[in-house]
Amino acid sequence: MKIKFGSKKKKNEKNGELRTETISDKSRFAIVESYKAARSNIMFSLSADDDKMFAVTSYSKGEGKSTVSSNLAISFSKMEKRVLLVDCDLRRPNIHNIFKVENSIGLSNIIGKMCEFEDVVHRNVIPNLDLLPSGTIPPNPSELLCSARFVSLIRELYESYDYIIFDTPPIGVVADALLLKDLIAGFVVVLRERSTTHGDLQNMLDSIKLADTKILGFIKVGCETSKKRSRRGYYYYQYY
Ligand SMILES: Nc1ncnc2c1ncn2[C@@H]1O[C@H](COP(=O)(O)OP(=O)(O)OP(=O)(O)O)[C@@H](O)[C@H]1O
Ligand SMILES: [Mg+2]
Repeated sequence: MKIKFGSKKKKNEKNGELRTETISDKSRFAIVESYKAARSNIMFSLSADDDKMFAVTSYSKGEGKSTVSSNLAISFSKMEKRVLLVDCDLRRPNIHNIFKVENSIGLSNIIGKMCEFEDVVHRNVIPNLDLLPSGTIPPNPSELLCSARFVSLIRELYESYDYIIFDTPPIGVVADALLLKDLIAGFVVVLRERSTTHGDLQNMLDSIKLADTKILGFIKVGCETSKKRSRRGYYYYQYY
């Protein structure tokens, strides 16, 4: 399946709408449908494990993790399910930019006992979708993500949501994403055309296998067909 994705222009930023990379009612039919297909496949994988939490990751930085996790969260929320998107990238957070919300306090501050979940969660950034931003960039992100307080926070939130989606840093740069392995059903891995190499993919598979966790699926982004490239240079997303 090949799907057109939004243009790189962020022309909606000024009028307060979400960035063009996120899907909305105005998005092309094919884009929305592709995320629905990805959503269905992820739901099947989750239901096999009777689980509701998964993380989105990739091998290198800038491959599209935050964009994909945001779009999956939007897609899941359209099913009238309560969804929480958590920005677990405590080093280069981006989810708050995509949804244009405040990030002065968030996940790191809850774990650091500076505030409570209710103080920092952004309710209904779109209907049914709550957003927990990363918060203040801490000196010790890995320690925070394997702390007992983080685990107990997620366990408490588990009861309040139908789906919880984690955006994470790249596995090839830091091991933070793998620290979530005991909380989640598995990883959705983003591969970017002309960026992710076979070596990257192999290293990532090795890391995930070593961590004894699961891959729920791959989403390939930035695909440009030669036919379309010659016309307008659209980007495509593919889900396997
Ligand atoms: N389909 C797309 N078409 C065009 N640009 C895209 C697309 N997806 C993402 N981008 C752009 O690529 C850049 C990186 O995207 P994103 O922040 O989602 O990646 P990331 O993997 O989360 O990065 P990081 O490793 O820094 O967290 C952003 O500038 C985003 O606007
Ligand atoms: Mg990101």
